[in-house]
Amino acid sequence: MIFLLQLIVVVVAFISDHVHEAIAQFVPPYSSVVIPVHKHIDAAKPLYSVEIMTAYVNMQYMHAKFLIDIDAPFIWHDCILKWNTFQDGCPANTLCTYPVSCEEYQCTDVRTTYSYQNPSGCPPVNNGSTLPGWGYCTCPVTVVDPVTGSCGEALLDYDEFTVNTSNGRNVFTGLYGAYPNAACAPSSSFASFPANVSGVMALSSSPYAFPAYLYQPLKRIIALCLPSTLSSPGVLFYGNSSYYLLPQSNVDIRSLLSYTPLIKHPDSFGYFIGVNSILIKTRSIDLLGNTTTRLSTIDPYTTLRTDIYKWVVRRFSLVTKRIPSAPPIAPFGLCFSTFNNGSIKVPDIEFNMNDGKKWSISTANSIKQITEEVACLAFVDGGATSEPAIVIGTFQLEDNFLMFDLENSTFGFSSSLLRKKTSCSNFNFTLTESN
Ligand SMILES: *[C@@H]1O[C@H](CO)[C@@H](O)[C@H](O)[C@H]1NC(C)=O
Ligand SMILES: *[C@@H]1O[C@H](CO)[C@@H](O)[C@H](O)[C@H]1NC(C)=O
Ligand SMILES: *[C@@H]1O[C@H](CO)[C@@H](O)[C@H](O)[C@H]1NC(C)=O
Ligand SMILES: *[C@@H]1O[C@H](CO)[C@@H](O)[C@H](O)[C@H]1NC(C)=O
Ligand SMILES: *[C@@H]1O[C@H](CO)[C@@H](O)[C@H](O)[C@H]1NC(C)=O
Ligand SMILES: *[C@@H]1O[C@H](CO)[C@@H](O)[C@H](O)[C@H]1NC(C)=O
Ligand SMILES: *[C@@H]1O[C@H](CO)[C@@H](O)[C@H](O)[C@H]1NC(C)=O
Ligand SMILES: *[C@@H]1O[C@H](CO)[C@@H](O)[C@H](O)[C@H]1NC(C)=O
Repeated sequence: MIFLLQLIVVVVAFISDHVHEAIAQFVPPYSSVVIPVHKHIDAAKPLYSVEIMTAYVNMQYMHAKFLIDIDAPFIWHDCILKWNTFQDGCPANTLCTYPVSCEEYQCTDVRTTYSYQNPSGCPPVNNGSTLPGWGYCTCPVTVVDPVTGSCGEALLDYDEFTVNTSNGRNVFTGLYGAYPNAACAPSSSFASFPANVSGVMALSSSPYAFPAYLYQPLKRIIALCLPSTLSSPGVLFYGNSSYYLLPQSNVDIRSLLSYTPLIKHPDSFGYFIGVNSILIKTRSIDLLGNTTTRLSTIDPYTTLRTDIYKWVVRRFSLVTKRIPSAPPIAPFGLCFSTFNNGSIKVPDIEFNMNDGKKWSISTANSIKQITEEVACLAFVDGGATSEPAIVIGTFQLEDNFLMFDLENSTFGFSSSLLRKKTSCSNFNFTLTESN
């Protein structure tokens, strides 16, 4: 009997040993998750969305598009709270999620940690009313519409999103589930958004943004490539992976990147880098040490503090003297005549970082065609005291591969992919079976 027991113990120990080994050796077939990025031009400014999968209804996932916002502290979208969908079903064409109560720590956390994010003028929130039959109060939180800047209110929830896995080369059929705390807002909150975009995807460094809910084996690295066209999507990856864009199926995009440190900013979960100088054809403006530069997925054009803006416009008009000018069209200060229908070609604008790294802004990212006859330098004057002094906007980010490495606090950038004979719209989205 004792022998039998010993044998059982040995066998159990043997089995559990093997189970441990199997867990330790499990290497998932994917290195990242991959999400299509769409461009929208039907709102007040060009905006970009990620397409993710939400509820599983009638044996298939509902797809939803959320605005990309690298500053937002948490995700919010068009949904309603239901504490018990069995008793009281979810209405058709509505997304239902489970509420966070006012007594849970997430509620206090989101309200207190992010209160400084509220622009002055947003009214304070109170505890919400209880849901029928539930007995707890809901947790309203303040949200700021990234399109209009206006204040709103949303209710904190337990959410569920599904995305596809990848090896950086193809989309795998294997799926990855994330379970973030997000917040529900009524459909009317999204009136200023592009059509069919029904939420805000927070990609900031906040502990309640999407990256905080994606776990091992995924490393905290966001790679973002905003498309310049509506016809085929750009791409977002999360995870430490190699990345490939057609037609160069053997060039890891990481080999094309330059890196600079991400700088912490006390009042923001967004991403900042230091720019030392701006160079335009052999002449540069020294920015006196590091000038804090914010990256934005919402601002359409790069905004410069007035002194920097004036220098850039003066210098740029000198080096483009041979191109006939046109009366400026707001919000731009320097425009060119393109009546002869030739696409104009201008010198690069180089943003120099520490360690000699430079971000080259070439014609595709510096000149915006406004009408058939007029094209303008797509930089705007942010005012004499604008802080940060430089905000890099989306027109300058399109078709540039960007990598936010939150593990190492570094930012990788490619400059224009068009010069490398590819673009953000060249990821191969063909579904492939992962073993
Ligand atoms: C909300 O309710 C919780 C729990 O009852 C309480 O601790 C908190 O102070 C309330 N907050 C507000 C803003 O009323
Ligand atoms: C993700 O995978 C699912 C199931 O394999 C597929 O139906 C869906 O189209 C994929 N999404 C994208 C964006 O490729
Ligand atoms: C929005 O979605 C509807 C229904 O799926 C579709 O018919 C419409 O074309 C979409 N609109 C845009 C601008 O994408
Ligand atoms: C990501 O992978 C590269 C190459 O495999 C490696 O050098 C780097 O240290 C990794 N980064 C992180 C944060 O693990
Ligand atoms: C510039 O920024 C880097 C980090 O990006 C920091 O290490 C360095 O001390 C800064 N230099 C100045 C002059 O502020
Ligand atoms: C310019 O080119 C476009 C097509 O590229 C054409 O539709 C347009 O008529 C041309 N305009 C002039 C003034 O030649
Ligand atoms: C990034 O950080 C990881 C640890 O988080 C380290 O192993 C790796 O060497 C770092 N990579 C680079 C390129 O600094
Ligand atoms: C895209 O990926 C699929 C699946 O791996 C492959 O069959 C196809 O050849 C790829 N397309 C191109 C243009 O390389």
